[in-house]
Order: sequence, then structure tokens, then C-alpha cells
Amino acid sequence: MNVNRVAVVVGTRPEAIKMAPLVHALRHSSHLEPVVIATAQHREMLDQVLEIFDIKSDYDLDLMRPNQSLASLTSRLITSLDEVVREIAPRAMLVQGDTTSVLAASLVSFYNNVPVGHVEAGLRTNDMRNPFPEEMNRVVTGRLARWHFAPTLSAAQNLLKEHVPADTVFVTGNTVIDALFEAREHAAKVPRQVAAGRKLMLVTTHRRENFGEPLKRVCGAILELLERDETLDVLFPVHPNPNVSAIVREMLGGHPRVELCAPLDYLSFIAAMEAAHIVLSDSGGVQEEAPALGKPVLVLRDETERPEAVSFGVAALVGTEASSIVSKAQRLLTDPAAYSEMARGASPYGDGLASRRIVALLEHTLCGVELNVEEFSGFASNDQ
Ligand code: UD1
Ligand code: UDP
Repeated sequence: MNVNRVAVVVGTRPEAIKMAPLVHALRHSSHLEPVVIATAQHREMLDQVLEIFDIKSDYDLDLMRPNQSLASLTSRLITSLDEVVREIAPRAMLVQGDTTSVLAASLVSFYNNVPVGHVEAGLRTNDMRNPFPEEMNRVVTGRLARWHFAPTLSAAQNLLKEHVPADTVFVTGNTVIDALFEAREHAAKVPRQVAAGRKLMLVTTHRRENFGEPLKRVCGAILELLERDETLDVLFPVHPNPNVSAIVREMLGGHPRVELCAPLDYLSFIAAMEAAHIVLSDSGGVQEEAPALGKPVLVLRDETERPEAVSFGVAALVGTEASSIVSKAQRLLTDPAAYSEMARGASPYGDGLASRRIVALLEHTLCGVELNVEEFSGFASNDQ
């Protein structure tokens, strides 16, 4: 029996999307065996993704509660994960990103002396309140991890600045691009149609720091854009967090050109991005995917831990002030030159091989398999 078990923790929708290609790559390894632990910090949104990627969790902790608080979720995660980690006794644990599940799983691994691999390591805003609590989650996980799988060179450099040992940091690309490549073909089979002469604006929001007034200003900006442009339609898959859905439904529900819907499954969401003219979002994953699909993304935040797309000119930070959102979106809607400049399809986040690199690194350290250094040289230079 293969005893090199690698625990893969997934809690929320984006973790599952970005871990799915890694689970697939681990399934193909002759040296490692994935054990998928779903904390189910998210419930329906997690299940949607696991089903699409044909992943059945080995453990499901079923932890989501309606409108859960950070502290209660954290404490339940730590207790439940500890039991599972003791039972599995994995050779390593993989966590992805910056959620509460990631923080708790890293800590539990540390307590149980299991080395942690951090996927999407090194993202920083250097502002602990923005995004909250994710920046703290990343920093703490960065202290606990044995392997730091940085998506870009600048993410790796952030870690080196924090004196993380250089021989534990690897630029692999972001597994989100692996997932997008895996899913895109299937997404093309469920295309979203946009009528001739109409433009679709796709919107998502969910960040805690945008709850309340900032989210109301975003909704106000959407209403203003709709008023200014008769050809504009809005598709807004609403995050089920009640702090988001209550405001969005109150302010935009009932508008004849706004379609509010439940979270779309990943394939339908990719199809919606493909159909969209522009994307408005405070999401991390969407900031990475939209540029790869050639869609300008206006980021509803004041700062971002993903500066690469902004430097490439394919994403722009517009914050949550209505005037800034309206003027930037309006420009893209009316000025074809400005639009094409942002719709170049440049992706600084990966080449679709990140999972393969991560598995190769694990096989090398845990099982002594020789590393093919060539595999790593191509990607790092992509980040400039
Ligand atoms: C969480 C992560 C955030 C990540 C986001 C992705 C933390 C602190 N936040 O934020 O980093 O960007 O997921 O979407 O880890 N809910 C449901 N069904 C679901 C999912 C959520 O009803 O499938 C509702 C529940 O009422 C739940 C609430 O949303 O209590 C909040 O979920 P939670 O995971 O705590 O926070 P998110 O805002 O989703
Ligand atoms: N997504 C999805 N359905 C939706 C909205 C988003 O499948 O209705 C996907 C999107 O393609 C991206 C991920 O969810 O891969 C982003 O998740 P989210 O915005 O919730 O979290 P973040 O990336 O900000 O942590």
C-alpha cells in the first residue's frame, strides 16, 4: 500500500477550484496518495466545485453554520481537523490561499508535526485589515509552512523579504490557471448568449471589508452605469453570505436589466466571464481568471495582493467610491481603444503546469524522486 498520504484541505469554493488540479495530479503520482479533507467552511458552493471536478472528499467535517463568526469557525476547525490529522497521519498537508480553514489547518499540522505546503504562498498587501482577516491568515501560514508554492516571482520575493528560507520557496504559477484550462473546454459546451448590440457586465462581491457602506456604493455605481448606458445588462451571481445578499437584493433586485442569481457553478461562471464585456469584482480568483480570458476586470478594492495584472494593464483598482467605478467602467464601455488595451488576454498568473510542479517538488522531498529542473525555468521569467 502507498503510505505517502498527502492531506489536501479544502474549505471554500476558491480553495476547491485551485486544489482540484492538484488532487488530479496527485492521483496520477505513483509515489503519493491524496486524502481530501473538506472542512466544508462553505457547503453548497464547495459541493458544486467538487462535483464538477469529480472529487469525492475522504473526510467531510461539515462545519458551515449560517452567518458563522470567525472565532466560532476557527475553534470548530481546529478541534475537528486535529482528530482527522491524527487518524490519517499524513506525510504532508497542503493548504491553499488565505481562508480560516487554511489558518486552522496549518496550525493543526504544526501541532502534529506534519509539514505544510502552502499553495498560492507569498501574496501580501502588508495591511492586516485589508483584506481582513485573510492577510493575517497568509502571514501566519507563511510562518508555519515547510514549502511555499508562490504563484509569481513577486510573491516569492515577498517571502524572501520576510526572511523565509530561500530553499523552501518555489515559483510554480497559480493552480487557478490549471483549473481554468481543465474546465474551459467543458464550459464552452454551456455558452452564455448575449444579444447583438448588448453588453454584459458580470459582477461579484463578497469581501468582509466591503460589507455595509462600500457595498451600497458599489450597487449605487451599478445603477448609475445602467442609467447612463441603455445597452448594458448586469449579471450578478450573489454570494450567499447574508451580509452581501441582503444589500444586493434590496438595492438591485427588481431592476429590469439586472439578473441576480445564486452562485453559478464553475463552468457556467467561466461561460459568463467569456460572454461578459467587462467584469467588476472584489474576488481574488476572478482577478486572476478574467485577464487570462481577455476580459478587463475592475477590482472593487483599494489595494490588492495581486498587483501583476494591474501592472500588466489588464486589471484596474477602482475601489468602492461610485465616481471612480462609474468613470472607469464608462470609459471601457465607450472607448474601444481603452477597451482593447485592457482586453489583451495576458495572464501573469500561470501556464497551466503549477500542479505538476508542486507534485514533482513533493515527490522529490518526500520520496527522493529526481527533480526535473527544466520544468521550473520557463515560468519564473513570465512575471516581469
Ligand atoms: C470565505 C473566506 C474568504 C474567501 C471566500 C470565498 C474566510 C474568513 N473568508 O468568505 O477568504 O474569499 O470564502 O468565497 O475564510 N454561505 C452559505 N453557503 C455556502 C457558503 C457560504 O450559505 O456555500 C454563507 C453562510 O451563511 C456562511 C457565510 O456565507 O456562514 C459566510 O461564509 P464564510 O466562509 O465564513 O465567509 P465568506 O464570506 O464566504
Ligand atoms: N466563481 C464561481 N461561481 C460564481 C462566482 C465565482 O464558480 O458564481 C468562481 C470564480 O471563477 C473563481 C472563484 O469562484 O474561481 C472565486 O471565488 P470567490 O470570489 O468566492 O473567492 P476569492 O477568490 O475571492 O477567495
